[in-house]
Amino acid sequence: MTEATILALGGDGIGPEVLNAGLTVAEAVAAAEGLRLTIQEGLLHGAAWDTHGTFCADDTLARAKAADAVLVGAVGGPKWDVIRVPGGPEMQDGLMRLRYELDSFVGLRPARFWAPLADRTPFRPGVADGADILVLREMCGGVMFAKPRGQTERNGLRYAYDTAAYDEGEIARIMRAGFALAGQRSGRIVSADKANVMESYKLWRQVAVEVAEDYPDLTLSNMYADNCAYQIARDPLAFDVVVGCNLIGDFLSDLAAIVSGGLGMLPSACLCDVPDPGRVCKGIYEPVHGSAPDIAGQGIANPIGMILSVGMMFRFSLGRADLDARIEAAVERVLAAGIGTPDIGGTASTRDVTGAVLKVLAA
Ligand code: NAI
Ligand code: MG
Repeated sequence: MTEATILALGGDGIGPEVLNAGLTVAEAVAAAEGLRLTIQEGLLHGAAWDTHGTFCADDTLARAKAADAVLVGAVGGPKWDVIRVPGGPEMQDGLMRLRYELDSFVGLRPARFWAPLADRTPFRPGVADGADILVLREMCGGVMFAKPRGQTERNGLRYAYDTAAYDEGEIARIMRAGFALAGQRSGRIVSADKANVMESYKLWRQVAVEVAEDYPDLTLSNMYADNCAYQIARDPLAFDVVVGCNLIGDFLSDLAAIVSGGLGMLPSACLCDVPDPGRVCKGIYEPVHGSAPDIAGQGIANPIGMILSVGMMFRFSLGRADLDARIEAAVERVLAAGIGTPDIGGTASTRDVTGAVLKVLAA
C-alpha cells in the first residue's frame, strides 16, 4: 500500500494527548517511507456526546467504514459513564459501537516483557524474562452481546440475566485468526474455555478442534480458562498465542498484560478479518488503557501503548510488518536509555518520550 486513509478519534481524557503522539510517529514513519497518509479527525464517546448527543455519530461510523484504519485514543469519564441511552450495549459506548458495526471480531492484545521495566512486574527475576503473549479476544459476540439479556423481577427479587451463546461460524473465524498468527510465531496456540460446565464452550472446543485439522503443523492445546489463568500467572514463558471468547479473552488479556510492567505500555487492535501476511485488513487500533481522567491535561500520559498501536496498524492494515518491528525496536531503545513517563518510574513528559522515539526512528 502506498497511501492510506486513517480516521483518528482522540476520545476523552488523555485520549487526544496520546493520539497526538501516535499520529506524530505515524506521519514521521510514513514520510520516511514515501507512504501517503490522509488523516481525518473526529469525535468519539464523551467528546461526541457533548457535541452531537450520541456516543458515535452516524457520520463518524460511515467515515470509519470508508477508512483503511481507525486510530482511537481512549474513551470514557465519570461525566458520561452514568448515561444510559436506548439500545444494546453497543449504543452505550462509542468504541463498542465502532467495533460492533465494523464487525472487528479479532481482538489482539499483545503483552511483552520489557527488560528495563522488570522491576515493575510482580515476577521473580527470570520468571517473565522474554515473555511475549498474544491474547486473541472474540470481540463481537458471546455473553456481552447475545440475547436475551435484561433486568426484571422474579419471585419479588430483582433479577438480571445475560446469554452465553456462539454459533460455529463465530467460533471458527476467531480460531482461524489465532492459527494464522500462531503460524507466524511459535506454532503453539491455546484455546481457553469452560467446556467442562457450559454448552456454548462445548461447541467452542469442538469447533476449535475441527479448525485445527486445517493447520496440521500447528499445536492446539485446549485449556479450561481458570487453569489457563493460573498457568499464565505461574509461567508466562509457556504461552504464546491464547484465544478466548469475549469474556474469557477480556480477563486473560488483562492478566497476561502484567508481564509488560505498566498499563500505559499496552497496544491493541481489533481486526475486521482473519489476518493474512499477503493481504491487508481494516482494523481499529488503540492503547489498552482508558482515559485516565486523574492525569488528563498534565502532559504526562505514557504514549507508548498508543505508539505501539500505530505499529500494529502498519503491520495489519498497511501491510508493513517491518515498520511495526522498527517502531517496537525504537521503543525498546528509548526505555533502555531510561526515558519514560512517571507511570513507569520516569520523569519524562508525553512529548519527551514521543520526541525520543522519533529521534531513534530518524537515526
Ligand atoms: P484507566 O486506564 O483510564 O486508568 C487507570 C490508572 O492507570 C489511572 O491511575 C491512570 O492514571 C493510569 N493510566 C492509564 N493510562 C495511562 C497512561 N497512558 N499513562 C499514564 N498513566 C496511565 O482506567 P480507569 O481509571 O478504570 O477508567 C477511566 C475511564 O476510562 C473510565 O471512564 C473507563 O470507562 C474508561 N476506559 C476506557 C477504555 C478504552 O477507551 N478502551 C479502557 C478502560 C477504561
Ligand atoms: Mg479489559
